[in-house]
Amino acid sequence: MSGWSHRHVLDLASFSREDFAAVLDLAQQFRSLPITGARKLPALQGRLVATLFFEPSTRTRSSFELAAKRLSADVMSFSPSSSSLSKGESVLDTARTYVAMGADVLVVRHRSTGVPQQLALDLQQMGERTVVLNGGDGLHSHPSQGLLDLLTLTRFFSPQHPMPEALQGRRIVIVGDILHSRVARSNLWALTACGADVVLCGPPSLVPEDFAAFVDAPPPGLLKDPVPQRGKISVVRRLEHALPGADAVMTLRLQKERMGQQLLTSLKRYHRDFGLSHERMQLCGEDVPVLHPGPVNRGIELSGSLLDDPRVSLVEEQVRNGVPTRMALLYLMAASESATEASLVSSSS
Ligand code: NCD
Repeated sequence: MSGWSHRHVLDLASFSREDFAAVLDLAQQFRSLPITGARKLPALQGRLVATLFFEPSTRTRSSFELAAKRLSADVMSFSPSSSSLSKGESVLDTARTYVAMGADVLVVRHRSTGVPQQLALDLQQMGERTVVLNGGDGLHSHPSQGLLDLLTLTRFFSPQHPMPEALQGRRIVIVGDILHSRVARSNLWALTACGADVVLCGPPSLVPEDFAAFVDAPPPGLLKDPVPQRGKISVVRRLEHALPGADAVMTLRLQKERMGQQLLTSLKRYHRDFGLSHERMQLCGEDVPVLHPGPVNRGIELSGSLLDDPRVSLVEEQVRNGVPTRMALLYLMAASESATEASLVSSSS
């Protein structure tokens, strides 16, 4: 996979358009392969992937584990409540335990921003070759979710050829709790890199005005943005103004566990002003899809009937796309590390 330069995958700010295209291309190939049961791909045979989730997860963790298994990796998982974390062991020492057992990849989720980044740095300084994949850190970043959302959207607009160009000039509306959402931040880097214009919609307490400038400065740690020209971001307060002309709408969970203070007067009022329903979606026009990364608060971010309507809801499709997307990430990381590229075609036969 020439051109892939990411040893660790910690955020999407440093991804070029070519990087997004490489992930989409591989994920699309993995998606079309009938990989079940014994029909696994040998790409990660003999490799050990450990999922270290210091915060709860349903989709991300199981999807990473399934992706690793489908590439023939051995998988170990860690659960904070039954681990030595409760005896006071640090995150780094916990990670080092898995490295000592031979982990090649650590997928790390933590409630604090920067933990996967710090781990990657610490392990590198210790001379370890283990790579770190960010499974979601604090409010900061959730790269694999941003990538699976990108696969879902590009496949919606261009099912046979889901490439970044499929989003050029599209208007993607993201509604809700942007402030506390690492998913929104990762989507902002990914969508604007593909040339989409993103409209953020919510109350000032959840969508601060300065999000409009989110991608204006070079990404942290980089002197220059790897994407020459990004789509624009705007902030719109009322759903009635955000939805007309939308090509897709993504809504986000109200992340109450990350809110330090009362930011909403009432959930009922939030649903009235920002909740999506079939009726509301009529403002967009025909066949505009709805996305949500899950977990969903039914009846708050969107109505149950909209969530369950397969004609508009891409929520299950997002979950389905999680596995091939994470396979693509694991594959690219392993391939860049060993520099010996397994041929997809021969390995799937
Ligand atoms: C998200 C997360 O954990 O950041 N969920 C996910 O990974 N699918 C979003 C959320 O918690 O609301």
